[in-house]
Amino acid sequence: MANILPMILFVILNLILFFFQLSTSIDTITQFQSLNDGNTLVSNDGTFELGFFTPGSSTNRYVGIWYKNIPKRRIVWVANRDDPIKDNNSNSTMLIMSKEGNLELLTNNNQTLVWSTNITTQSLSTTSSHVAQLLDNGNFVIKANNNTDQQSNNFLWQGFDFPCDTLLAGMKHGWDLKTGLNRQLTSWKNWDDPSSGDLTWGIVLHSNPEIVLKKGSVEIHRSGPWNGVGFSGAPMEIITSSVIATTPVINSNEVYFTYSLVNKSMVSITYLNQTLSLHERVIWSPEDNTWSDIQSVPKNDCDVYNRCGPYGNCIHNPSPICQCLDGFEPKSPQNWYASNWTQGCVRKGEETWNCGVNDRFRTFSGLKLPDTTHTWVDANMTLENLDVPYGLVIL
Ligand SMILES: *[C@@H]1O[C@H](CO)[C@@H](O)[C@H](O)[C@H]1NC(C)=O
Ligand SMILES: *[C@@H]1O[C@H](CO)[C@@H](O)[C@H](O)[C@H]1NC(C)=O
Ligand SMILES: *[C@@H]1O[C@H](CO)[C@@H](O)[C@H](O)[C@H]1NC(C)=O
Ligand SMILES: *[C@@H]1O[C@H](CO)[C@@H](O)[C@H](O)[C@H]1NC(C)=O
Ligand SMILES: *[C@@H]1O[C@H](CO)[C@@H](O)[C@H](O)[C@H]1NC(C)=O
Ligand SMILES: *[C@@H]1O[C@H](CO)[C@@H](O)[C@H](O)[C@H]1NC(C)=O
Ligand SMILES: *[C@@H]1O[C@H](CO)[C@@H](O)[C@H](O)[C@H]1NC(C)=O
Ligand SMILES: *[C@@H]1O[C@H](CO)[C@@H](O)[C@H](O)[C@H]1NC(C)=O
Ligand SMILES: *[C@@H]1O[C@H](CO)[C@@H](O)[C@H](O)[C@H]1NC(C)=O
Repeated sequence: MANILPMILFVILNLILFFFQLSTSIDTITQFQSLNDGNTLVSNDGTFELGFFTPGSSTNRYVGIWYKNIPKRRIVWVANRDDPIKDNNSNSTMLIMSKEGNLELLTNNNQTLVWSTNITTQSLSTTSSHVAQLLDNGNFVIKANNNTDQQSNNFLWQGFDFPCDTLLAGMKHGWDLKTGLNRQLTSWKNWDDPSSGDLTWGIVLHSNPEIVLKKGSVEIHRSGPWNGVGFSGAPMEIITSSVIATTPVINSNEVYFTYSLVNKSMVSITYLNQTLSLHERVIWSPEDNTWSDIQSVPKNDCDVYNRCGPYGNCIHNPSPICQCLDGFEPKSPQNWYASNWTQGCVRKGEETWNCGVNDRFRTFSGLKLPDTTHTWVDANMTLENLDVPYGLVIL
């Protein structure tokens, strides 16, 4: 009889713990709490959820992040995209914070390490331990446990530095020049497999940075060089629209773009669509219960990089869409008239590559400015000291 009281207390305690766990969602993993398959983290404001998922018809398990309250689930970030959990006994799979302060994804009761973060020992603090937290903006971070500042960039590691196929508001799309970190998007292989596909979208570091979409090593689309206001070859809506406002940061430490949502209660993301080889901005419309496509790039056939080859001009409406510039003719008429435009055009007739007496500068409007890969910028130069006789000035 005497040991019934502690037992009742024990049961009550367990019930309290049980209801406590049911009624509060947690957003952190500490060294004393692991996240098991079946449980999730929820960001403090309830927007994002992190947990285990199986994509499409796959049998692999992954750790990912999605919008908690959107029924048509889109995975916006995957931790172990290239290291799937093959073991389907979910009971023995867990995400833990190791003693060394790294996130580790363990599987099998023999504790196989599937994936981990890679914080070097130098950045480990000996006096404070680490926690992992899912922030309200969808960033999953590791920080010292006494760091309570959500906005601080004082993170030891952050998921936003390793984007998958989705660009969320607040993510940096581009380079940390000090560390050489290039944050670019890489598509899923297909909708059953989040591992890295061959479609990438990132900043190419020329003296005038551009954002380039590539399939393997082939350029699909370029934004045109940044001219201080916008991308000269991209529609202005890419920068500012009724939905987003984009901010460029170009200095000696960093070259990146980031965007914010004009209306913070809207949900809108940009992701890479591997099937169609494009990047697409979608917006969640709660009324229709769907994600709607509000912008796709490339937006048409002529928007595709190098569509008509060298000295070719792409015009969207007529058919065929490719024409040679005045004074040029198809390099290979046979291919050209069979709608294979890749070889482009060459100077007509007898004329040489040197400038002749009849050569003039001509104005062409509505064309994207040339590729700036092999150009340089003199940032000291102003319009006043423009005394260079021949030159291209990009205004
Ligand atoms: C786990 O995988 C094994 C072998 O692939 C299969 O036989 C089993 O049915 C699977 N179990 C579950 C719960 O999916
Ligand atoms: C996993 O755990 C559940 C509940 O604890 C149990 O019913 C199930 O048999 C376990 N599965 C395996 C494969 O151990
Ligand atoms: C862990 O489990 C896997 C699958 O059951 C097995 O292939 C592997 O040999 C085990 N490793 C160790 C170290 O026991
Ligand atoms: C961790 O970083 C080191 C040094 O940069 C690198 O050699 C190693 O491959 C990385 N490991 C993982 C799992 O990323
Ligand atoms: C956290 O603790 C470390 C070590 O005690 C200290 O150096 C650091 O200033 C603290 N950070 C904050 C934000 O309190
Ligand atoms: C912001 O978006 C929410 C949800 O779509 C909508 O209810 C609200 O009216 C919008 N606010 C403004 C200022 O447009
Ligand atoms: C890719 O784009 C097409 C056309 O907009 C759409 O039907 C398809 O669902 C998209 N893929 C995903 C995963 O959204
Ligand atoms: C177009 O022409 C080029 C050059 O002759 C050739 O390499 C390429 O395969 C052709 N493309 C198609 C789709 O026929
Ligand atoms: C620009 O001006 C600074 C200061 O006069 C000079 O150090 C630098 O070399 C100049 N840069 C170029 C590209 O001329």
